Amino acid sequence: MTGSPNTSSRDPIALAQVAANPSIEAAVAAVRDFLEMEVAFASEFVGDHQVLRQISGDTESFGGVAVGASVPSSHLYCRRIIAGELPRLITDVRGHELARLVPITDMLGIGAFVSVPITLSDGDHYGTLCAASRHPEPRLEDRDVQFLHVLARMIGDQVERERLTRRTRELEVQAAAVTTLSVALAARDGYTGDHSEAVVRLAVEVGRQLGLGEAELIDVERAALLHDIGKLAIPDAILHKDRPLDAAEWGVMRRHPILGAQLIAGVPSLEHLQPVLRAEHERWDGGGYPDGLAGEAIPLPARIVFVCDAYHAMTSDRPYRRALGHECALAEIEAGAGSQFCPTTSRALLTVLAGDRRVAA
Ligand SMILES: [Fe+2]
Repeated sequence: MTGSPNTSSRDPIALAQVAANPSIEAAVAAVRDFLEMEVAFASEFVGDHQVLRQISGDTESFGGVAVGASVPSSHLYCRRIIAGELPRLITDVRGHELARLVPITDMLGIGAFVSVPITLSDGDHYGTLCAASRHPEPRLEDRDVQFLHVLARMIGDQVERERLTRRTRELEVQAAAVTTLSVALAARDGYTGDHSEAVVRLAVEVGRQLGLGEAELIDVERAALLHDIGKLAIPDAILHKDRPLDAAEWGVMRRHPILGAQLIAGVPSLEHLQPVLRAEHERWDGGGYPDGLAGEAIPLPARIVFVCDAYHAMTSDRPYRRALGHECALAEIEAGAGSQFCPTTSRALLTVLAGDRRVAA
């Protein structure tokens, strides 16, 4: 071990380098450099294990440990450090009563260890940023721990940025797929296309009223836009018929939720909505189709789309019948709450519609 980091002026330089290129790799390398310990690494908590995400230094001295290695947290110091059972800085592991009993001490022959949690903005512990030496390191002090904290915060920010980029990319792919499908449906059947757009607006409002989070609202929006996508596979003679359908034709028409679910089966970013599209005509009392699901067995986005779809269909002119007035449609929704429609979802829709009326008045 050469030099003393406590008299070094490298910390601001190391920090500036990491800040200029805020990668987890750079942060871990800066830790190893600044603390002059044999290895530094960043780990992620995955269940009751810790997975090595980045490592820098003399890995050979530590059994050739490599990125991707997964070790039970019970073998390591980190969880015990976060729980406050061990200090963040252990300058002499073998001289510490509890630390020397932790399995990794003998497994890798550790003499000194320092670890701080990598915490995300929601307070979750993503993992830890650590450094280890085979020999005791009496020169290390609280200032070194503080340096690790600063870099752990940078790593936390970087992890969140990467997650956000990944999520944004997923949502972009999903949005493109939804747009393609809904444009295809609108071209095939103008009513269904416009109708889906109106159902989207209502469904998202109802989702908000129910207190859903952003990710769930996106699913509700996608499901509302795609709920009738299975009609792409319904023959024109049935889809565009200007008189009421006969029993056989209804039999074909009622397959559209199954067809819709099948249609998105090949779209990776939408596949998770398959059970929702399949259930968009299920009734709360189990009398719907295609599976006769009842109550909360029906996915919530499907229950939301079902009641919003019903309200909008009732208040729209169709080739074979005139629209019901708003008041009549409200009475139908109220009458159907608890039998046809999910009661909570119907109540939320009635609240949203009452609000719309107040705004319009
Ligand atoms: Fe439908």
